Amino acid sequence: MAQDPIIMMNHVGLIKTDHRGRMISVLKDIKLSVLSTEIHALIGPSGSGKSSILRLLNRLEEATSGDIYIEGKTIGQWQVRDLRNKIGFVFQESSLFPGTVMDNILYAPRIRGIKKSKEKSVAKEMIAMVGLEESFLDKEITRLSGGEKQRVNIARTLAAKPEIILLDEPTAALDPASTQTIEQLILNLNQEYKKTIVFVSHNMQQVKRLSHHIAVIKQGETIYQGTAEDFIEQHGEDMSFL
Ligand SMILES: Nc1ncnc2c1ncn2[C@@H]1O[C@H](COP(=O)(O)OP(=O)(O)OP(=O)(O)O)[C@@H](O)[C@H]1O
Ligand SMILES: [Mg+2]
Repeated sequence: MAQDPIIMMNHVGLIKTDHRGRMISVLKDIKLSVLSTEIHALIGPSGSGKSSILRLLNRLEEATSGDIYIEGKTIGQWQVRDLRNKIGFVFQESSLFPGTVMDNILYAPRIRGIKKSKEKSVAKEMIAMVGLEESFLDKEITRLSGGEKQRVNIARTLAAKPEIILLDEPTAALDPASTQTIEQLILNLNQEYKKTIVFVSHNMQQVKRLSHHIAVIKQGETIYQGTAEDFIEQHGEDMSFL
């Protein structure tokens, strides 16, 4: 039997008003189908609407048309809190605050009232999941490299124990070595911890390395859904036609 998607978008549109009061159609016709425990990529040119799609999935914005289902329930039926516990978001720009790695990782657990006696073990578990040494917990965020910051950023999202993780251009600001580390981490979170992952990328090679399925987004529309390999076979690896 075919597996029901954990995330589904049908004909989703998002109209926004710009600073001059003009209506802008940011998303026009988005279709998306993400299976449980897969890695799914969103790829497309700058301004095509990729970050907006992730924001809709976390209820940071509301779609103006179409349907979004999470585990078969329409997104409006979810309590926002439950939805954000289920779906963690690693933003395009790091949202770490000044302080230690441990303080950042424990941000969500402390809001939920974690017991003081449990703090250290939770922080250790999260730092291990992203492949950093325990000694990092006491380091100041400002002293970390870009790749280390991104791993802490991911560890912080993991601390809320999400089943689904949204990553917006997780390697955009990183050098090749750190990019490789983050790619390995994404694969590991999927394979070892069975997380469902939706990530945004500009890079078809990266998408091919990581994802089971992709959606290609152009000017607010889904123009392709399938595997990266099939897309490359049909169109080549050059994305400039988009
Ligand atoms: N509040 C807003 N007011 C006006 N336009 C907006 C607003 N939010 C988004 N847009 C426009 O919607 C389009 C899609 O934006 P979005 O950030 O989703 O694109 P993206 O695919 O993530 O781009 P990038 O690859 O550069 O991150 C862009 O043209 C953007 O300027
Ligand atoms: Mg974006």
